[in-house]
Amino acid sequence: MSTSITQLKSWLQLQTHFDRVSEVHMRDLFTANPNRFQEFSLTAAGITLDFSKNRICDDTLSLLIQFAQERAIQPGIQAMFDGKPINGSENRSVLHTALRNFSGRPVTVDGEDVMPLVRDTLKRMEDFCWKVRRHQWRGYGNKPFTDVVSIGIGGSFLGPKLASSALKPFWDTQIKCHYLANIDGSHITEILRHLNPETTLFIVQSKSFSTQETLKNALGCREWFLQNGGAIEHLGKHFAAVTANVEKAVEFGIEEDNIFPMWDWVGGRYSMWSAIGLPLALTIGLDAFRDLLHGAYEMDEHFRTAPLEQNLPIIMALIGIWYINFYGIRSHAILPYDHYLRGLPAHLQQLDMESNGKSVTSDGQICDYDTGPIIWGGAGSNGQHAYHQLLHQGTHFSPCDFILPLTTHNPIDEFHATLASNCFSQSQALMQGKNFDEAKAELLALGLTPEEAERLAPQRVIPGNRPSNTLFFDRATPKTIGALIALYEHKVCAQGLLWGVNSFDQWGVELGKHLGNRVLEDLLASQSSQAHDSSTNGLINAFRAMKSKL
Ligand code: F6P
Repeated sequence: MSTSITQLKSWLQLQTHFDRVSEVHMRDLFTANPNRFQEFSLTAAGITLDFSKNRICDDTLSLLIQFAQERAIQPGIQAMFDGKPINGSENRSVLHTALRNFSGRPVTVDGEDVMPLVRDTLKRMEDFCWKVRRHQWRGYGNKPFTDVVSIGIGGSFLGPKLASSALKPFWDTQIKCHYLANIDGSHITEILRHLNPETTLFIVQSKSFSTQETLKNALGCREWFLQNGGAIEHLGKHFAAVTANVEKAVEFGIEEDNIFPMWDWVGGRYSMWSAIGLPLALTIGLDAFRDLLHGAYEMDEHFRTAPLEQNLPIIMALIGIWYINFYGIRSHAILPYDHYLRGLPAHLQQLDMESNGKSVTSDGQICDYDTGPIIWGGAGSNGQHAYHQLLHQGTHFSPCDFILPLTTHNPIDEFHATLASNCFSQSQALMQGKNFDEAKAELLALGLTPEEAERLAPQRVIPGNRPSNTLFFDRATPKTIGALIALYEHKVCAQGLLWGVNSFDQWGVELGKHLGNRVLEDLLASQSSQAHDSSTNGLINAFRAMKSKL
């Protein structure tokens, strides 16, 4: 039985340090050090991380780095890049980094260099996109495609959709891309409602080619296609697939030439850099898609080689651990101050929560410490009029990542400066707060009597000392977006290594899938359900009762 990380010398020193400094106010840290911003900022791959608005001092950082060293994080990182089977429960390598490996170095899995496969797939993607975008590949009526429907869920949906939205200013085609994910008749109906089967191309995105939602949606789209003018012999022109399960895709009726490979050494939530990025590549073109890959590659090299104290993903990972494991904080907010990046929280939810939402270590020990946080968030400044109240005055705080491109794709007089002022002032308010005397003085200045001011001041007090990171970059380009997403992939990987959990499997989702199949059978059965607990039986029978009335 391995020793818990909570017994490590560096962890115990962190605990002692926490007991001493936990209540130090960031206001005082900034007052004591006018260069705090300069000393607690780092830049890599075009991304600058301002981590000065955190409840840390030099000693905190030094002890956190010692913890990372004691956890041998750098050999752990190198093992990932070297293709070691670090996904122990599935005995798989973890090599999404190979998909953007421009180093020229080979990457071997089971003794075979996979880079020729990666390069060949990227070339096939380029040919496919070229033919579709230049109307060489046409529909059954010999018309160019006007719409692409990407059918996939989880990592086969969130990553490409986020990147597509984030890079909308770089769309350079008339082809419209739609993302179909949920097993909800309303979703597929809303997507197909305005489409023409003659000019619609479907891409079935599924690593396993066995995900219930994706298969049902793919069958639904195929049925729609055949019911509205398409014919079986046309499927080859209108359906493509990205999968590691070629046999099942062929069984579905997709021509092998239209099937792009995925590999078991690329996890779903890390797969947008693979052919799963095909819908994105169709909308921004392969040059821009390669720029995205290059941005991620630059962040990979930084993660792999930068010293711990200058390593953006590792610093973000360690500061996160400081709050989760010492302050007992269990959530983390992602606040992109950019309309095109509004989908980032949803992607990072899967990336982080499906990776580190674990309670057992890779070697089977129950964690006696917290692990992955609840990731949430939304676009600023909208959130200021929704959940920032809790961030400022709630009984518990959530560390925030503010994210801002310094320039906008759509300059309109002072709009961007106003957005930036909101972003910067929110983290400033969270840090400095407003104490009782300041609140009371404000009320007195408004003309309230001392008694009234005394009475109302408590509601106006803002504790402050609420931490945040600010990530900024010159412009949201394919390269910086690639670097930004890779930054978070590596932060998640680093936290998993530090906690000793396997960030690359997801056994937790299997039970729900299994039970779902049984519930579905009972929902569709002719007699009422007694096979489950009373709640599930009650729910099934209520659904069946309503269904019988229709
Ligand atoms: O949520 C479970 C999961 O396996 C994710 O990890 C994955 O991204 C998603 O379902 C879709 O899986 P597939 O690409 O195999 O359809």
